[in-house]
This record gives sequence, structure tokens and C-alpha cells, in this order.
Amino acid sequence: MLEKAITKASIVKMILSGQPVVPSEKAVTVFAPTNIALAKYWGKRDTDLHLPMNSSVSLSLKDYGCTTTLSICEGDCDRVILNGEALPAEHPFVEKASAFFDLFRTKAHYYFKLETNSNIPIAAGLASSACGFAAVVKALAALFQWNLSLRELSILARLGSGSASRSLYDGFSIWHKGRREDGMDSFAESLEVDWPEFQIGLCLLNKAEKKISSREGMQRTVETSVLYQVWPDKAEQDAEAIKRAILKKDFQTVGELAENNALTMHATMLAAKPPVCYWEPETLAILDKVWALRKEGVPVYATMDAGPNVKLLHLKKDADVVAALL
Ligand code: PMV
Repeated sequence: MLEKAITKASIVKMILSGQPVVPSEKAVTVFAPTNIALAKYWGKRDTDLHLPMNSSVSLSLKDYGCTTTLSICEGDCDRVILNGEALPAEHPFVEKASAFFDLFRTKAHYYFKLETNSNIPIAAGLASSACGFAAVVKALAALFQWNLSLRELSILARLGSGSASRSLYDGFSIWHKGRREDGMDSFAESLEVDWPEFQIGLCLLNKAEKKISSREGMQRTVETSVLYQVWPDKAEQDAEAIKRAILKKDFQTVGELAENNALTMHATMLAAKPPVCYWEPETLAILDKVWALRKEGVPVYATMDAGPNVKLLHLKKDADVVAALL
């Protein structure tokens, strides 16, 4: 079998060429916010490099995310402490982190100690892996004092988890799908818009880990859902239209497009074989309430990711009404 010429390792090597290979700091602590997609990423054109079929747009939540401390580990393996608990080496989270660190080990073959505290539930469709990998990349850059652009850091974070490419930024960002085989044009950038009135409320229905990982759910949808034929084009148009509406601060248009984009993504998943369904009965109950509230004239919209929890898009002035709904 022919070996793939462009790999995660070759991309990292290219980006880090000329950068320091010895850590400058003993330990660094960084924060990366979680992000909620308003125009969703669902499906990869390259499953290894996490290159998406379509561009996506998100808003980072400034108070929710991962605070991560990274240092060089004295032992002979990586150590991971998640929310105060030291995880065993065979824990899937440690395996995932170690595989990611493998990309960045220099000739001296350092091991890392990763302590991460997340104030959102892990793997419950709240983009915990997005802020997790973005924080690791930010921490590595600070530890080794790499002089890289946000664009390059976004590409490195993408290699951990696609949506992590957007968690490098506060506020709104767009992740360009890119066209290149090596993915060097597939990175996120800030939309540079100051819109504090736009808010997202988290409606936590279930903190349990999702039954189907987003990686598996995406792949199954791409391969078996007849509706996936329309998704990439529609999603690309949505991302562009949502970006334009954000830049104009047109809340109604952003809300309408974002809710429709999320519902279309879930419909596309439901048509997969076997179906990919992240919803619980409570998900639909909340949607009903959102739609009823809208009929009463309150501009509130919903979006859902790879989990049953609902995120409510609303304006600051309606925060009390929306809180009452929750
Ligand atoms: O980056 P991943 O593999 O966690 O996938 C994220 C997928 C969604 O949250 C459903 C959509 C998105 O764009 O964040």
C-alpha cells in the first residue's frame, strides 16, 4: 500500500521548522474557550488531517473552557490530570493526548505533564475537545516560545480536533474549509466584531458522555446518509450568509440561519444508516418552548451539536425571559 505523503507529522514539521526545540519555561498555564458553532462543521474531506467538507462559523464562550497547565514530565510517560484526577495511562483521554504530543516531541523526546480543568462537561456535545486541544497548542507554544501566527496555531489545533481550530479566538470566528491537500489554507480566523449583546445560554439536559463520538457520527453520515449529498453546498452557503449577518449585527438573520443549519445537520444525521441521533426527548421539549416563545415575539433561537444539550441564541435584553425558559 502507498504511504500517504502528507501526514499530521509532516504538517507539524513544516510549521515548526526553525522554531525552538528546547522548552524555555518550566510550566505554563493558559485558557482556551469552548466555542459553539452557528454554522456547523459536519463531515471531513480528509479524515486524518481533519479537513472539513465545509466552512463553519462559531462564537467562543468567554467564561467556559479549559484552563491548562503544561510542563515537562520527569518520568518516562506522559501524565494527564483531568479536573484534579490523575488518569491511568490506558485511559482513552491519555491515549488521545499522548498521540497528539507524539507530533511535537523533539529529538530529546520529552514527556509532558498535562493538568487540565474544564468547567464544561467532557464529551457531552459542548466542544470540550475543541477547547482542550486549543489549550494544549497554546500551552506548547508558550512552553517552547514558538513564534507562530494564530493561523498556524489554528492549523495545529485542527490536527487535534477540527473544531479546536476555532477555539484559539475569543468572540466570533470563521474556519475556512480550504482546498489544498495539505490543509494549509484550512484555518480559523477572527471575525473582528464586537457584539456583546449577542449571547448564548447553555441548556444542560444531560452531562453524560455521548454514545457516538463526533468522529464516528460524521463518518457514518458522510458514508451512508442520502441527505449528505446536499449538506456541503448548503453548509457552505450558510457559513457565508451567517458571517455576513454577524458583520451587520443582524440578530434575526443569524438566529434563523443558525437554527435552520443545526436542524438540517441533525436531519442529515438521522438519515444515516444506522441513524445517528444525539437528541433526547427533552431536546425536543426545549425546542417546542423556544418556538412558542418566538411566536410570542421573543427573538430566541436554538442550536444543538453532537449531544442532547440545547444552546439558546438570544440578545442580552432577553436574558431573563430565556433564563425563565430553562
Ligand atoms: O471537532 P469535533 O470532532 O468535536 O466536531 C464538532 C462537530 C459539531 O460540534 C457538531 C459542529 C461544530 O462545528 O462544532
